[in-house]
Amino acid sequence: MSSKIAVIGFGNIAKAIITPLFENKLLNPEDVYCLVNSKKSLEKIKKNYNYDINIFQANTKDSEIIWDCQFKLLSVKPQQLKNIIEVNKNKRNLLVSILAGVSLENLVKKFPNHKCVRVVTNIPITIGKGLTGISWGEGITEDQKNFIKRLFENSSKIYEFPEYLLDIFLALTSSGPAIIALIIEALSDGGLSGGLQKQLSEELVMEMILGTVSLIKDTNLTTAELKNMVTSPGGTTISALRVLENKSLRSALIEAVVAASNRSKEFS
Ligand SMILES: NC(=O)c1ccc[n+]([C@@H]2O[C@H](COP(=O)([O-])OP(=O)(O)OC[C@H]3O[C@@H](n4cnc5c(N)ncnc54)[C@H](OP(=O)(O)O)[C@@H]3O)[C@@H](O)[C@H]2O)c1
Repeated sequence: MSSKIAVIGFGNIAKAIITPLFENKLLNPEDVYCLVNSKKSLEKIKKNYNYDINIFQANTKDSEIIWDCQFKLLSVKPQQLKNIIEVNKNKRNLLVSILAGVSLENLVKKFPNHKCVRVVTNIPITIGKGLTGISWGEGITEDQKNFIKRLFENSSKIYEFPEYLLDIFLALTSSGPAIIALIIEALSDGGLSGGLQKQLSEELVMEMILGTVSLIKDTNLTTAELKNMVTSPGGTTISALRVLENKSLRSALIEAVVAASNRSKEFS
């Protein structure tokens, strides 16, 4: 991975993608040209970031150098996209966008001198446990695909999709962590109601979830088989499940994922 890389918006997610590539010596900091919006961010990164990257404030003369890079990672917030103006330097460069809800069609309109790729990733990428969905735009070569996959595979598992499936991928994987956090919070409040200390209750819930997921993955049990294993006639678990069925938890979760996906489609 030697060619120069521009990162338009060097925020949380961009750092999570790029930093492991430095750590694993797959990328040289001097080959990376980053843009931020504010002087404050620029100075903070210069002072605190562990690697000596090239970093510029947007809309300065010096920052135009980023448009010379053949490969660009676009990682501003969707509402900040309007402030990015393509500087027409090299034709047919490659731009990978991680912006939620910005379609390939709109990316190509915004960056007509670039071949575009759309990527959806999720917050666990910040600890190297992300999930990344990729939709290839027109005319991306196999070499370019491999290059892009190498960028993300250090910090996430990669799935390739036609673009129409990115919304549901985003709903499950990007909104999913908030849904799981809410479930952890609610279950540990249940423990609290039964007299456990908040911290212990939360720890028990998280360990229980990790153990359950490992059990399903390690033993190839189906979720139905696992449910049956721990649900005895007239027992405690069926009492809990009855309440959840009565409150339509299953339907609420399905509708939550569909709603997130529909919202993502609206943004596009
Ligand atoms: N957060 C998530 O869970 C998550 C997950 C997956 C994907 N995403 C996507 O990732 C993207 C970035 O999210 P984030 O959480 O990393 O945001 P963030 O931390 O706010 O980073 C945004 C970066 O863009 C810079 N920026 C703003 N306007 C700019 C401009 N005109 N020119 C150049 N740089 C500019 C900001 O600079 P300043 O600091 O100076 O403002 C900042 O460095 C979003 O589009 C989001 O949809 C987010």
